[in-house]
Amino acid sequence: MIGFSRAAQQLVCDGVPLPAIAEAEGTPVYVYSAAVLRERYRAIDDAFGDYPHRLHYALKANSTLALARTLRELGSAADANSIWEIELARKAGFAPPDIVFTGVGKSPAELECAVPLGLKAINVESVGELARVEAIASRLGRTARVALRVNPDIDAKSHPHISTGLKINKFGLPLDDVRELFATIGTRPSLQLVAIHVHIGSQITTTEPLARSAALVRDLVGELRECGIALEYVDLGGGLGISYDGGAVPSAADYAAALLNEVRATGLPIVIEPGRAIVGPSGVLLSRVIDLKPRNADSDFAVLDAGMAELMRPALYGAYHSVEVVTPRPGQQRQYELVGPICESADVVARDRMLAPLAVGDLIAIRDAGAYGSAMASNYNRHPLPAEVLVDDGRWRVIRRRQSIDDMTLLES
Ligand code: LLP
Repeated sequence: MIGFSRAAQQLVCDGVPLPAIAEAEGTPVYVYSAAVLRERYRAIDDAFGDYPHRLHYALKANSTLALARTLRELGSAADANSIWEIELARKAGFAPPDIVFTGVGKSPAELECAVPLGLKAINVESVGELARVEAIASRLGRTARVALRVNPDIDAKSHPHISTGLKINKFGLPLDDVRELFATIGTRPSLQLVAIHVHIGSQITTTEPLARSAALVRDLVGELRECGIALEYVDLGGGLGISYDGGAVPSAADYAAALLNEVRATGLPIVIEPGRAIVGPSGVLLSRVIDLKPRNADSDFAVLDAGMAELMRPALYGAYHSVEVVTPRPGQQRQYELVGPICESADVVARDRMLAPLAVGDLIAIRDAGAYGSAMASNYNRHPLPAEVLVDDGRWRVIRRRQSIDDMTLLES
């Protein structure tokens, strides 16, 4: 059985007992299963079948080099959200034609570096940004490959902080601007429009809004054809949700079918930018109970050595992550409020959970921490960035060592 499962009452990752990793590397530590990573990638890739498609893994979800390389080896391309993610992608072996550059605020310096790279596309988010890309390309005597990111005014029905497809959100070009550009973009020699791009949000748990935005892209492809402009592909963004709490989410097959239904008629290759759906379930954040104290008559606080510095999602979005006691003790379950060690009352990892009775020193695995865990970690309260461990084929290795206080202060005088 791949991934995180129980063997003799102990939580293991691809057969490796988590306590062994905690003993050797200390806690908190992120532990990833290469087998799950590969399985999740292949499930989405296979779901599109023979239809021409390419997965551009969204590096923002987790760009630890070894994971990015593992995905590249499977055939993944990359979605980068800053010039630094582009640099990271290149370190991981992605070639510029396999990288799309997304992001709502690309600085002049970032664009200056990006335009001459020969990326698959710069996904442009405004009329002004398009003009800035054009000016750089023209000065360099190049043609910039661009995609227009459309704001479709579609509700992804996810958490408001991670919904990006409504008019009120800062993302993308309003439809009116997009249509206006259609009339002239073909006459701008420094620009080559290669795709329409849409991304309406993250942790989307029904296919309906994704299908609606794909349908809009299909209609725009038709309008462009009438203007005599042929695109190379359509970019339908990321956003496929995962089940953090056991609730239903679309399967890779449902997801692919929903998109294909809408855009198959265009005949154009599909690009998607999945992040969470690939890497989320492949990782846990392993931490230890460092204190226990009464909370109320029915429950106790369990203070962990990991909190919002290592996994920001619960504090930032009220996100639910399931937690598991790595080696449960016998006895009656008890209710716990699992909190982090950071000086903020928002630093709650998991509320009101029924768990086997805990003792100081017990190991807790916070599940589905592979996406937006290490990627969003900080040094708040001077917590060092945790080590990261990859389990592959029954062996494990450190893919990022724990930060030391010297690493942390290296840039300070
Ligand atoms: N493409 C674009 C343009 C994006 O903005 C994003 C995510 C993705 C792709 C990947 O989306 P995914 O497949 O991972 O849903 N920190 C939040 C999530 C923020 C997502 C930002 N953009 C969280 O922890 O839930």
